[in-house]
Amino acid sequence: MHMKNWNLADEELTKAVRASFQGADSDRMQLVFDSLVRHLHGFIRETEITEEEWLAGIDFLTRAGHITDDKRQEFVLLSDILGVSMLVIGMNNRKPTRATESTVFGPFFVPGSPRYENGDDLGKGAPGTPCIVRGLVSSTAGHPLVGARVDVWQADEDGMYDVQYAHLSEPRGRGHLFTERDGRFWFRTIRPEAYPIPTDGPAGDLLRASGREAMRPAHIHFRIEARGFETLITHVFAAGDPFLDSDAVFGVKRSLVAPFVESELDGETVAELDFEFVLVPS
Ligand code: BEZ
Ligand code: FE
Repeated sequence: MHMKNWNLADEELTKAVRASFQGADSDRMQLVFDSLVRHLHGFIRETEITEEEWLAGIDFLTRAGHITDDKRQEFVLLSDILGVSMLVIGMNNRKPTRATESTVFGPFFVPGSPRYENGDDLGKGAPGTPCIVRGLVSSTAGHPLVGARVDVWQADEDGMYDVQYAHLSEPRGRGHLFTERDGRFWFRTIRPEAYPIPTDGPAGDLLRASGREAMRPAHIHFRIEARGFETLITHVFAAGDPFLDSDAVFGVKRSLVAPFVESELDGETVAELDFEFVLVPS
């Protein structure tokens, strides 16, 4: 019998809404919406949401929409601080042992970054302690990967990405280079520092209202692409950073933490990072 959508008690209402998706375009869409309705209705029922709270929720999402544009993505930020980004990344990037783990992409990647040669300075005058990064890109079978494209982006010592400054004429702290015959790449830059994720929108309101930190521990972002291998999107985090245990977006994995070793070179402090990135065949 066709179910009429009126005068429905709570449980019947949920059933009617689930049934309304039975004609969805694909089995997958039907499954996803069926689950969404069950969980959403379950959430409303469990928390006994008041009308006032529901309107506050709608207002929150409306503000997220209004602050979002092609440079600012508040919904991704919300997904990040709710741990959903890491959940999706974890489920879709289960790695064999030895492979380098993935973590959040974040909002500060810019396609078409400048190309550098190994040994070049990607820092381009950004403020910070000079830093040398040496990487090795290899396969899970232990072979070096030649000609892999390595994209890098990072914050400076003030915790700022180049794109967060209003008047920079050229990219700094970002670029791409390629691995040499032995799978190695290296570049000069500045040591990244911890920084807060943007808190001037609803995601910031949520963090403040929950007494949560907005900080991310210091890290360098890497995106590594090699023919025949799954593209790796990850960070290397600075060992000893005080925010490793409270990353606002839950992105830290133990295997991605490495020391930025400081030493004196010609009277100047220099940090050095060595890291091996292990890719999985596709
Ligand atoms: C980042 O590491 O660039 C980032 C990741 C998630 C949210 C905000 C920033
Ligand atoms: Fe970052």
